[in-house]
Amino acid sequence: MEFRKALGCFATGVTIITTIDQDGDPVGITANSFTSLSLDPPLVLFCLDRKSMSFDAFHRNRHFAVNVLRSTQEQLSRNFARSGPDKWNGIPYEKWETGCPILAETIAALECDVDQVFEGGDHVILIGKVRRIRFEDGECQPLLYYRGKYARIGAPA
Ligand SMILES: Cc1cc2nc3c(=O)[nH]c(=O)nc-3n(C[C@H](O)[C@H](O)[C@H](O)COP(=O)(O)O)c2cc1C
Repeated sequence: MEFRKALGCFATGVTIITTIDQDGDPVGITANSFTSLSLDPPLVLFCLDRKSMSFDAFHRNRHFAVNVLRSTQEQLSRNFARSGPDKWNGIPYEKWETGCPILAETIAALECDVDQVFEGGDHVILIGKVRRIRFEDGECQPLLYYRGKYARIGAPA
């Protein structure tokens, strides 16, 4: 579709956004719609497909966590871009205050309380107020997504 192709021209990072369902089981999806929204208060957002199997869990739970992937985590991204509950086999993670999974070895993690939810066509926009962060300060390579493919930052011009 032409619209999709045009949108794909915008290069992004890749995140896995997590929450927990009613039983406390982990839920997560690969998402590149993540963006920063406000510094004060600290707000971020992402857009969630209404057709996602994780929709109810994200809609019900008042918290989510954003895990920013590094270039070596493409397989993890592919795993969480699959639909279904069997994504968590052998995936190491920890929990902070809210119970949302914080994945190991990411570049950054942000734990959020859902602040507002807006309708957005076939998606909803979840705005989260950031309550806790972790990030790697040193040199590291992010995983990118561009024109429907995974990419890495090339050598500086
Ligand atoms: C690079 C990439 C970015 C994606 N970004 C989003 C996104 O921002 N929002 C979304 O709802 N789905 C996004 N998806 C699709 C979900 O990861 C995919 O539909 C996933 O299977 C949903 O899982 P679920 O059905 O188990 O909830 C993206 C997929 C890829 C590969």
